[in-house]
Amino acid sequence: MSEALIQNFANKLIAWHGKNGRQGLPWQSIRDPYAVWVSEIMLQQTQVATVLERYPRFMKRFPTVKKLAAAPLDDVLAEWAGLGYYTRARNLHACARQVIEEFGGKFPNDPVLLEQLKGIGRSTAGAIAAFAFHERAPILDANVKRILARLFGIEGAIQEKAVNDALWSLAKTLLPKKAADMPVYTQALMDFGATWCTSRKPVCLSGTKKCPFAKECQANLSDQVLLLPRKVAKAKSPEFNCDMLLLRHGDSVLLQRRPEKAIWGGLWSLPESAWRAKEKSAKLSDENPINLTVKALLKLALPEESVSTALKGCKSIERGVEIKHVFTHRRLWMQIWHVPSSDSVTFSSDDLRWVSLRQLGKYGLPQPIKLLLQGLSLARGGEPRN
Ligand code: ADE
Repeated sequence: MSEALIQNFANKLIAWHGKNGRQGLPWQSIRDPYAVWVSEIMLQQTQVATVLERYPRFMKRFPTVKKLAAAPLDDVLAEWAGLGYYTRARNLHACARQVIEEFGGKFPNDPVLLEQLKGIGRSTAGAIAAFAFHERAPILDANVKRILARLFGIEGAIQEKAVNDALWSLAKTLLPKKAADMPVYTQALMDFGATWCTSRKPVCLSGTKKCPFAKECQANLSDQVLLLPRKVAKAKSPEFNCDMLLLRHGDSVLLQRRPEKAIWGGLWSLPESAWRAKEKSAKLSDENPINLTVKALLKLALPEESVSTALKGCKSIERGVEIKHVFTHRRLWMQIWHVPSSDSVTFSSDDLRWVSLRQLGKYGLPQPIKLLLQGLSLARGGEPRN
């Protein structure tokens, strides 16, 4: 391993950032750990352009950890709507409460303690500690793993524990000596991975920009840039079908709150059937295209005790669109069924609620369901709501 590269890496990267890094983003140069934490969680799976729009809004709505902890989870989920990966929002809320209850309302500066908080992994703990407290804590997200695997020619698959451990240890060795450099260094690593040493179009291969590490990068020197880091081949994610009930009465649709532990947990969605593995079962609509009765559909999608209540106003069904949604580890085809209801019956369950299309903005909805219902709202001459 090149000793010179290890010695110079941090300074070269910081110099690169001065000329080429992202500057002036609203979460840069803040030291309030609450603000840093919110920005890091939001940036985890969301593009910078989207975060630029949504981060100031979130901070205005929940300006302190105390306010976030005191808010109902439903309000946090509604504010998060459209950003996806809702576990992040549930964890944000749970973590805010942990900070209040276990740390007297102050985020700890030790990355080991930060990592014990809900939703904060080792790399995010390092980022918060570096940005907010100038701790000499390394980060190692997928972008940083790629940079290090290429620069140092690390051949093993990065999912392997021994390789992962070696990368953490290398990330620690490369840290700048001065704690004051930690924020710019950490941001530089993130920016270099996101914009220059990218997975498919690294600048060294395009020839348009000169990578500061071109002469030392093991992957570049051995023509292996696109081959590193090596990954264990991933199996295709499994596919599922489900049927979704779009029960409507006038301007209102019936929404159901999803169980906390499920996908889209705590969000309001359309009542849906259990999922069926796609390869094992045909779609309900294929199996039984003519005989599918309203009752059979309601039975599939609603809790047993609510079926007869719902049936009071429903006489017909009509097949709607099929929506495909790709989750991190599975793919889901949702068959929408339109069921008009002549009655806005009252359900005994708190988790079933008639919601006017105009009021949808007050509810945290999964993105594909939100888009579907916004389409209905527009068809009725309404305005799209966020
Ligand atoms: N992704 C995660 N944290 C980030 C940050 N601070 N800047 C840009 N992208 C990021």
